[in-house]
Amino acid sequence: MDATCRHPLNRRYPVRRSYVEAFIKQLMHLLKDQDEVHDDIYGSLCNRMAEGSDSGTAYSYKHYILQPDACITLRESNSFVSEGTTGLCTWEAALALADYLVEHPDLVRGKNVVELGAGAGLLGILLKLPAMSMQAKQVLITDGSEPCVQLMRENIALNFTDSAAEQAPKAEQLRWDAISEFPWQDYAETDLLLAADVIYDDSQFDALLGAMDYFYTRRGRQLEMLLASTVRNVDTLHKFMTKLRICNYKVTPCANVSACASHFCRDHTAAVQVISIRRYS
Ligand SMILES: C[S@@+](CC[C@H](N)C(=O)[O-])C[C@H]1O[C@@H](n2cnc3c(N)ncnc32)[C@H](O)[C@@H]1O
Repeated sequence: MDATCRHPLNRRYPVRRSYVEAFIKQLMHLLKDQDEVHDDIYGSLCNRMAEGSDSGTAYSYKHYILQPDACITLRESNSFVSEGTTGLCTWEAALALADYLVEHPDLVRGKNVVELGAGAGLLGILLKLPAMSMQAKQVLITDGSEPCVQLMRENIALNFTDSAAEQAPKAEQLRWDAISEFPWQDYAETDLLLAADVIYDDSQFDALLGAMDYFYTRRGRQLEMLLASTVRNVDTLHKFMTKLRICNYKVTPCANVSACASHFCRDHTAAVQVISIRRYS
């Protein structure tokens, strides 16, 4: 219990109550064949239940413990959609892309990275976290939603304190249909574009393709984009892939995404595809 429910991280930044409850119930289930279950476990469950449901709490924390000395703490919404956006919690596609990048650090080493539709900010924080040594150069995480940008900044402040603050990623508001109005002169040329779970609303496809075109027109073959998508609606994904082909992009599926080790405890039953996108002309 000290290593989980009463862990100092959880005392300071509590995870969802319903998650703690489910965890203790699962623990009791695993112990059901033992003679006795320790009072501490019953006590923790009773305390948890006395606190009531999550319904009055809009936000809680998640802790991704990647190595003994590397942990990412994020404040996230308890709802999938809130404040007019889907970006205030982390989606499976971002977890899968994070896993993929941890397994392939060469993709980010020394690169200037921009993330589109970054939501709660997991990927940018991962790329700059000192304990992970991913060695990305400049990292800019962006989202069109003002509440997401505020949350990303809050999450950056949670994970980059004191001396680490200088190397933290930057978070800025960027709507895809206003890409050319962004002050790009303040940032280095982009080598790597990231996006996770942004292919779900076909009314946004042209804006996203317009934003991609803005980057590829400047960087050409020097730019790679890694796009992670949960396969929910095959037709929607297919429609976007067709548009990519028409716009002359070369798409390469990234190998072994589902098989790669999970540092982020993601749900492997959710099918996520990660593709690499290039444009040569
Ligand atoms: C499903 S969320 C994914 C968030 C995060 N990438 C993740 O996977 O956890 C989609 C994100 O795209 C952002 N988004 C959608 N349309 C956008 C647009 N036209 N311009 C900028 N951001 C947009 C939303 O605000 C939201 O944060």
